[in-house]
Amino acid sequence: MPTTKPLVKPFLFLLCLSLLFLLPLLLSRSPLNPNLTRQVLLSSSSSSLLKIRPGFRSYDDYLKLQLNKTLNPRLRRVWATRDWNRKISVFSRFFAELRQSGFLSNTSRALCVGARMGQEVAALKSVGVADSIGMDLVPSPPLVVQGDFHSQPFANSSFDFEFSNVFDHALYPERFSREIERTLRPGGVCVLHVAVARRGDRYSANDLYGIEGVTSLFKDSDLVRVRKVDGFGLDTELVLRKKNRSR
Ligand SMILES: *[C@@H]1O[C@H](CO)[C@@H](O)[C@H](O)[C@H]1NC(C)=O
Ligand SMILES: *[C@@H]1O[C@H](CO)[C@@H](O)[C@H](O)[C@H]1NC(C)=O
Ligand SMILES: *[C@@H]1O[C@H](CO)[C@@H](O)[C@H](O)[C@H]1NC(C)=O
Ligand SMILES: *[C@@H]1O[C@H](CO)[C@@H](O)[C@H](O)[C@H]1NC(C)=O
Repeated sequence: MPTTKPLVKPFLFLLCLSLLFLLPLLLSRSPLNPNLTRQVLLSSSSSSLLKIRPGFRSYDDYLKLQLNKTLNPRLRRVWATRDWNRKISVFSRFFAELRQSGFLSNTSRALCVGARMGQEVAALKSVGVADSIGMDLVPSPPLVVQGDFHSQPFANSSFDFEFSNVFDHALYPERFSREIERTLRPGGVCVLHVAVARRGDRYSANDLYGIEGVTSLFKDSDLVRVRKVDGFGLDTELVLRKKNRSR
């Protein structure tokens, strides 16, 4: 077929060229956790303000990195000594202000999500919120019980108030928000400290480029207050209130 022959060469050339570009993409995709792939696709289509960091090949990979920080003996020593009182005094001021503003009361059932050794819980108790508990991958009795914020070990509507400053550690931010909304009672309050202007450390699983990157994930809540804070590298406080009726 002499008439088609001239077209074959350019076609093959283009085919090779496109494979050259596609191959690395296909190869880098394949080992990913399907859940993670879906999450990455979801978040890139719904919001450019929240980016999942690449490089976690599986949920186990992610857990290993988180535990590496949480179990680091040097860090734990610092958290338990030098950091302890300083953090409690700063968090106590945050919680006292939140109570004054009506988002928290002495009778609130309160949860700290990702509480490490429990400084936030100790701060809540010190300002009078007796019924408070923390949750983290590694338990730290008596203040912190074991749990993964992607799948909280609590029944629906367990809490009046939830606080977290570890949103940047969420590999599946949608599950992080969904679980907080599930375990909060209707009308309950979620307070998040996040970093918008600056980047987290190497243990962060996501990067936030605008508050809508977080607030859009809380589909059953209203954003009721935003303010700048100085909270250990986190610069923005978001107060969300779960709607009284569900969708
Ligand atoms: C994906 O998520 C489902 C639940 O949503 C879970 O049962 C499954 O183990 C996850 N798969 C991986 C590879 O993490
Ligand atoms: C954390 O990772 C470092 C290397 O990056 C390693 O030396 C250390 O043993 C790990 N620690 C834990 C608790 O896994
Ligand atoms: C809440 O508890 C704190 C500390 O125990 C106390 O000073 C404060 O008066 C209490 N507030 C109310 C409204 O009971
Ligand atoms: C808990 O809440 C979730 C959604 O937030 C709902 O799908 C589930 O059915 C509820 N479970 C119970 C036991 O009410």
